[in-house]
Amino acid sequence: MVERTLVLIKPDAVERNLIGSILSEYERNNLKIMELKLMHVSTEFAQRHYAEHEGKPFFKDLVAYLTRSPLVALILEGENAVQRVRALNGKTNPQESGDNTIRSLYGVSLSENTVHASDSLESAEREIALWFA
Ligand code: CMP
Repeated sequence: MVERTLVLIKPDAVERNLIGSILSEYERNNLKIMELKLMHVSTEFAQRHYAEHEGKPFFKDLVAYLTRSPLVALILEGENAVQRVRALNGKTNPQESGDNTIRSLYGVSLSENTVHASDSLESAEREIALWFA
């Protein structure tokens, strides 16, 4: 099934001039960029994006990280896009994320892990509505 998913190229990656390298990974893998924008988001917006993590010990740092400098938000479309993008990104922790995944290539740490992608079709729908209202 052709799906759409929401991807963030997070502040650590934008700061290190990695936007082009990361977009290339997705495009090489036949995922189509449908929307794309550079944004510097507010604390309130980041809290809404990460609402499911509210109350976790790392929540405050996560919001501070997402808001510290600009990020890139994009919508990717393709066959089975939700799962395929998550496979390209690799596991949350860059040290466990598997060879040649975006997080293994570029991730800094468990918290500064370079990219975000929706984890299900339901999340994709919610996140696309939030980021591209
Ligand atoms: P992401 O895919 O954007 O979804 C939630 C984010 O929280 C995750 O990437 C990491 O950046 C961060 N995260 C998840 N687990 C932890 C953790 N145990 N400690 C710190 N940050 C985490």
